[in-house]
Amino acid sequence: MAEHDYDLIVIGAGPGGYIAAIRAAQLGLKTACVESRETLGGTCLNVGCIPSKALLHASEMFHAAQSGSLAKFGIDFSGVSLNLDQMHAEKAKAVGELTGGIEFLFKKNKVDWLKGHATFNSANSVDVAGKSYTAKNIMIATGSSVTPLPGVKIDHKVIVDSTGALALPKVPKHLVVIGGGVIGLELGSVWLRLGAQVTVVEYLDQILPGMDGEVRKEAAKIFKKQGFNIRTGTKVTGATVKGNTATLTVEPAAGGASETIEADCVLVAIGRRANTDGLALDKAGLTVNARGQIEIGHDFQTHVPGIYAVGDVCPGPMLAHKAEDEGIAAAEFVAGLTGIINHDVIPGVVYTYPEIASVGLTEEEAKEKAAASGGEVKVGKFPMMANSRAKTNRDTDGFVKVIADAKTDRVLGVHIIASIAGAMIAEACTAMEFGATSEDIAYTCHAHPTHAEALKEAAMAVTGKPIHM
Ligand code: FAD
Ligand code: NAI
Repeated sequence: MAEHDYDLIVIGAGPGGYIAAIRAAQLGLKTACVESRETLGGTCLNVGCIPSKALLHASEMFHAAQSGSLAKFGIDFSGVSLNLDQMHAEKAKAVGELTGGIEFLFKKNKVDWLKGHATFNSANSVDVAGKSYTAKNIMIATGSSVTPLPGVKIDHKVIVDSTGALALPKVPKHLVVIGGGVIGLELGSVWLRLGAQVTVVEYLDQILPGMDGEVRKEAAKIFKKQGFNIRTGTKVTGATVKGNTATLTVEPAAGGASETIEADCVLVAIGRRANTDGLALDKAGLTVNARGQIEIGHDFQTHVPGIYAVGDVCPGPMLAHKAEDEGIAAAEFVAGLTGIINHDVIPGVVYTYPEIASVGLTEEEAKEKAAASGGEVKVGKFPMMANSRAKTNRDTDGFVKVIADAKTDRVLGVHIIASIAGAMIAEACTAMEFGATSEDIAYTCHAHPTHAEALKEAAMAVTGKPIHM
């Protein structure tokens, strides 16, 4: 009889966990995945990436039809109306198809889904729904949840988190988003397009922390033009709810006179924190770092041998594709292979309009790093205004920026604001993964007319020789 029930038990079936489980099974390991939700796919598929992108797409189409912005192309609409229930239904269909797809893949790859909440019993066993299971290896992929804001209690009615904001039964009159990060701007865009007045309250003096400085400035300009009311350098100190109205007390982040803002919906989106509560980590001998995350080594193993961790529960960007690639690499390590992930080349995309995408170092980070080693960087920029496809599509907001090492010309970072920046950044990722120089991109033939030509031109601009500006 086998010493353990499984070679690997994965806790959590989000992009980190379900992908790790499938890869482990593909590599011949007897694998189970524990998930407490009714459906597989984690935050991303159920209440994150997928439903938010469904609403972003649908709201963009509604706005294009309703706002009259297509009239310049000779397309006139009249009597455009919103059927929000149908919009939610179509979103739910996409979610259902994808979560059902993972269930199919589990069956196909013979991954057992242990339904319920897992708690550690020891370093080699977990309890799920009243039963104990043992495994040679255990992988924690429990993801993250919204960071609560003291004084602003999420009541899931008037004050909501991202999950609530993905399912509002009606368009709010005034939505206040606390946090000018990715969730605030994506979901703020959805409800702005559907007719809400949207105020974003951001603690820092600029939105989108962590992104390239010029990108942050340009993005704020574009969002304000779209109708967002952006209040940077402002903190929320409390909230009260009476009936269907919330009254928020805000004051300058640096201190000063307070004022109140009324809203019929408040979205708290000030970041997310690792899910480690309720796992009984102590029974496995595990601890968390000061930020509540599980620290791992290069092979995704925690300080307890045989226990691995991937995705949002670990340090690093909280992104589905980062979790996925970690899941594959970690499963390969569990199987005795060498898993590979390049944490320096993980793209980030904000799916607003236009989209904002980046990979590698920001200009500020690149300059700081170069200065520390006596080096220098070169920067090439190309405006979408000068890109022929953007001109034809009348979507000329934004630019592409390529940052390269001045001596070696190796590309260190790429930042894009453009209607389809999310698709464009993939080329930059491949180039950087292959150690490309800006010249490599500049001498690569790009199809015409495409938005991607702006990346080529920005690469040409690194050496001061773009053609179309
Ligand atoms: P999760 O996806 O959080 O999965 C963890 C799973 O573990 C959950 O299903 C949970 O139920 C389960 N679980 C937790 N504890 C236990 C337990 N003890 N027992 C059993 N099961 C347990 N990222 C992108 O890259 N692109 C996007 O467009 C994007 N959009 C987003 C939009 C929103 C609104 C949000 C909230 C997030 C978005 N993200 C996006 C982030 C992305 O969802 C996460 O980075 C990703 O889901 C992390 O994957 P994970 O596997 O680490 O964890
Ligand atoms: P975030 O970290 O992107 O933004 C949070 C914002 O809130 C920051 O700008 C921060 O300065 C601000 N903030 C913090 N405390 C505040 C306070 N008290 N008052 C006002 N502002 C405050 O976090 P967000 O938007 O909640 O998203 C969480 C995670 O989900 C992100 O790390 C992101 O990676 C992931 N995500 C990714 C998406 C994508 O890839 N397209 C989409 C949505 C989420």
